[in-house]
Amino acid sequence: MADGRDDAVLDPAAAWGAAADAWDEFVESGADYHRTDLHGPALLDACGDVDGRRVLDLGCGQGWFSRQLAGRGARVVGVDAAAPMLAHARHHEAAHPLGITYHHLDAARVAEMWPPDSFDLVAACMVLHDLPNPGEVLTAARRVLAKGGRLVFSIVHPVTSVPPAVWVRDEAGRKGALRVDRYFDSGPIRLRWAMARLTAPWEVTNWHWTLTEWSGLIEGAGFRLDRLREPRPTAEQAAANPSFEPARRLPYFLVVELSPRPAPADPGDGVGERSVR
Ligand SMILES: C[S@@+](CC[C@H](N)C(=O)[O-])C[C@H]1O[C@@H](n2cnc3c(N)ncnc32)[C@H](O)[C@@H]1O
Repeated sequence: MADGRDDAVLDPAAAWGAAADAWDEFVESGADYHRTDLHGPALLDACGDVDGRRVLDLGCGQGWFSRQLAGRGARVVGVDAAAPMLAHARHHEAAHPLGITYHHLDAARVAEMWPPDSFDLVAACMVLHDLPNPGEVLTAARRVLAKGGRLVFSIVHPVTSVPPAVWVRDEAGRKGALRVDRYFDSGPIRLRWAMARLTAPWEVTNWHWTLTEWSGLIEGAGFRLDRLREPRPTAEQAAANPSFEPARRLPYFLVVELSPRPAPADPGDGVGERSVR
């Protein structure tokens, strides 16, 4: 089907592993200007002051966001399920050491690797829509967070990123309105990345969840929603790069800031203990 809804689901680690070389080129060349100028700065801002903080970067890929954090003084550990992505990440670390360590690990298994209270901040840059089980990943991340820790993540905006969203274009091919449909049909979507800015195309599966579903996943994993951001280019950015103009009118990305909800009271203390007697 043209909108990718009925195509077979691709394994995220295998699909992103196959795309790793082209992805690394895309990120390092600056061709991914939405990352360098829009969602990346917004996620970094959401992270706050990371100097000296222990940070876990989930689905770190070739390490762009890990390096941004480490460059601001964070002690960063990155995990990713795709070995070829990590090979690029380790190559960048070897070329310009920032003290980042990388692990080949499914993000849903971080609590098997690290004990509770291991990290002050968990970050996930453009990852949680790339795997089928974001609730499990959030639950595992909650377990390794320190008391007072936070989790921040960025995703493509659930309202505008849902195929078959189609741009209505003018005679010159400029993007006008975005025609969106089937927002409530959540689940996997096969995506082909094939912009002219890429050195090679690739295909992955994304998972679309409605905002209500994201809210349920967040609550089910034991988090409280602190703040949402919808990064918007400035007029100056749009003037310098006309590709930013549609993102001045419509949100492309969502940045989410969470903190753990307190665990329910231990039944062995306080009121629970009295009620047993
Ligand atoms: C769009 S890339 C983003 C990479 C990186 N965070 C960045 O912003 O450059 C998505 C990444 O998620 C990784 N990934 C997908 N499923 C994963 C999982 N279950 N556990 C860990 N990483 C996963 C992929 O291998 C890929 O590197």
